[in-house]
Amino acid sequence: MLLGISGSLRRDSHNRKLIREAGRIYGTDDFIEADIRFPLFDADLQAEHGIPEVVKTLVAQIEAAEAVIISTPEYNKALSGVLKNALDWVSRAEGNPWRDTPVAIMSATAGRSGGERAQNSLRLVISPFGPKLLTGREVLIAQAKDQFDADGRLSNDRYRAALETQMADLKKLVGQF
Ligand SMILES: Cc1cc2nc3c(=O)[nH]c(=O)nc-3n(C[C@H](O)[C@H](O)[C@H](O)COP(=O)(O)O)c2cc1C
Repeated sequence: MLLGISGSLRRDSHNRKLIREAGRIYGTDDFIEADIRFPLFDADLQAEHGIPEVVKTLVAQIEAAEAVIISTPEYNKALSGVLKNALDWVSRAEGNPWRDTPVAIMSATAGRSGGERAQNSLRLVISPFGPKLLTGREVLIAQAKDQFDADGRLSNDRYRAALETQMADLKKLVGQF
């Protein structure tokens, strides 16, 4: 199973479109989109009620996934708070589902950089969990509103080529385990 995590909750999110496109290019019928609409992390909440079921679901999905694709928007030069909150909750659950899991990072933004700094910040916070983080071809979708067609398909050839290379690399990485 391939798991996609969009760092934006927005209905029409470009990052959501991007993980769907990545899933199609990866070429699996078994693609799951994560739900990271978690409560804001609060240690009191955890102490009183334990780990929320929606968090446990994500932990189980990461554990079961052959690979995880994460697409983050850039919010004020970093990964989205929603995504950071999800990573924080997962880190409080038992075990570490990220260890040795192949992970590909990508981003779609309104700005011209395509989220380079957002990706750097995501790499920084996810690295300590020990995933097999893909390096090499970067997928940075700039001015995202102009890059998808009405069906949510990536219409820019250059970006599509980058995503195809990255997904081929991810498959190779998965094949090594
Ligand atoms: C709070 C906030 C901060 C933002 N900061 C940046 C930024 O630093 N760089 C950038 O390129 N776009 C920034 N944007 C614009 C987002 O890239 C744009 O809204 C993008 O489409 C969000 O992703 P989504 O389409 O998946 O929801 C910001 C948007 C919001 C709401």
